[in-house]
Formats: sequence, C-alpha cells, structure tokens
Amino acid sequence: MTEMMNDVAKVLCTQEEIEQRVQEMGQAITRDFSGSNRLIVVGILKGAVVYYADLIRHIGLPMAMDFMMASSYGSSSVTSGVVNVTKDLENDIEGQDVLIVEDIIDTGLTLSKLKQVLLARNPNSLKICCLLDKPERRKVDMKADYVGFSIPDEFVVGYGLDYNERYRNLPDICVLKPEIYAKD
Ligand code: PRP
Ligand code: MN
Ligand code: MG
Repeated sequence: MTEMMNDVAKVLCTQEEIEQRVQEMGQAITRDFSGSNRLIVVGILKGAVVYYADLIRHIGLPMAMDFMMASSYGSSSVTSGVVNVTKDLENDIEGQDVLIVEDIIDTGLTLSKLKQVLLARNPNSLKICCLLDKPERRKVDMKADYVGFSIPDEFVVGYGLDYNERYRNLPDICVLKPEIYAKD
C-alpha cells in the first residue's frame, strides 16, 4: 500500500490479526455489558478513531458515542509528560457506564489523567479498552480491562497511531525505519 510502506521497517500486527482481535474484544464487551442500557463509549482522539470505528461495530448493545481529545506527544516520538484535555465530552456521564477506548497505553500518563477526570463525574462504572499495551514503558500504574495486544518497547504507527501526525491511515501496525525517527 502506497509509498508510506517504504518507511516501514516491519509490520507488528497485520490488518487481518487486528480484525480478528477487535472482533473478539467487541464480543467480550458485549457479554460483559449485557443488560446495561446506559453505555457510553468514549474514544480518545485522535489515535483511537480507527480502532473505535471498527470496535463499536462488534458491540451488540445500545450505546452512545462520545469523544475526548488528549495530547501529550505533540510532534515528537517522546512524551512531554504533560497531558492536556483539548476536547471534552458532550454527554453528562453521571450514573452511566463509561467505556474508554484508547489505541495504546505507553507511559500510562494519558489514561491516568483521563480516568481521574472522568471518575470525578461519578459514572456508575468506568472501564478501559485498549488495543495496544507497552507494559515496559509505564511511568504510572495503569491497567486496561481489555487489551488487544501486548507489544515490545518500539514506537509504532498505523491503524490510527501517528508519528508527527502521519501514518495514521496505514492499515497495519508498523515500526518505522530508524532513519525516519532520527531527527528526534
Ligand atoms: C498517544 C496515544 C495515546 C497516548 C499513550 O496519543 O494515542 O493516547 O499517546 O501514551 P502515554 O500512555 O504515554 O500517555 P498522542 O498524545 O500522541 O495524541 P494522538 O492520539 O492525537 O496521536
Ligand atoms: Mn492518543
Ligand atoms: Mg500521537
């Protein structure tokens, strides 16, 4: 696919592997939230959008869509450590079952900030669903309730994940060639 693939050193998760795993995760969520008629699925912009769109089509329950935006990486491949909420929810989540959908947990800073913000609004429940987990990189304690793939400590792009806002539209999850990151 396209000349973007020239920048790719290796594919970590293929489109087919992702599709299979996302389906399994949707089924698990459907099972666990069955009976809830107050489910709000919160996608974290922008990284989670591709995953979010695929996942919700495997959730066989009534649900509302909502989004928050948080950014800490800016144009770099290294986190600034400061997480800014740049777009908030439209729904009032008090008494609702909230499922956060995120693309990746790296240091854990983004999700720990968002979790703290959302818990303060008194939801009935708050769970986290994350496609990728890099446990080696944690700076704060953070665990998702649903994890798609545990991956090694390599900077990944594709399927929504970016490097400097690019590569989000790659269908696979990939590691770029070292020279692409070299300017950091
Ligand atoms: C990335 C990624 C996660 C977060 C994970 O978002 O999408 O949201 O970093 O890293 P952490 O666990 O170390 O906090 P980013 O800030 O790059 O914004 P984006 O989703 O718009 O790319
Ligand atoms: Mn993100
Ligand atoms: Mg990013």
